[in-house]
Amino acid sequence: MSLIEAAREVRENAWVPYSRFKVGAAIRAASGRVYVGCNVENVAYPEGTCAEAGAIAAMVAGGDTRIDEIAVIADSPTPVAPCGGCRQKIAEFAGPDVEVTMATTEGQTLTRRVADLLPGAFDAAQMERAAGPAA
Ligand code: THU
Repeated sequence: MSLIEAAREVRENAWVPYSRFKVGAAIRAASGRVYVGCNVENVAYPEGTCAEAGAIAAMVAGGDTRIDEIAVIADSPTPVAPCGGCRQKIAEFAGPDVEVTMATTEGQTLTRRVADLLPGAFDAAQMERAAGPAA
């Protein structure tokens, strides 16, 4: 199954009573395993989580920490753009050249590199003058 197909399948499970906007995400990790996630909203709106965050949490819980490829899909008029917070979350586990494929349920796709989605990203190097050992 392709990564987009995996994202399309998990999207059906999204919990979206407030936005009605279902999103699915799938990650191929360095181990070759595929991890999926969907958005899970909450009546306390800020507590909702994005599909990408769910897939990343599943990946880390599964023992993987490197993203080789990621796909996101939604019923949007143009390929769905990960939110700013998710771009930073993806960058935590993906190098600048990792491809992010954004898709619509109708079959449009757009692929961009992590570095293109989050130019000038904040990273650990910017904390090098802070006291204490790095994590
Ligand atoms: N959402 C995602 O899950 N991923 C994205 O890339 C864009 C937005 C979700 C969050 C919320 O549940 C709904 O879409 C509307 O913002």
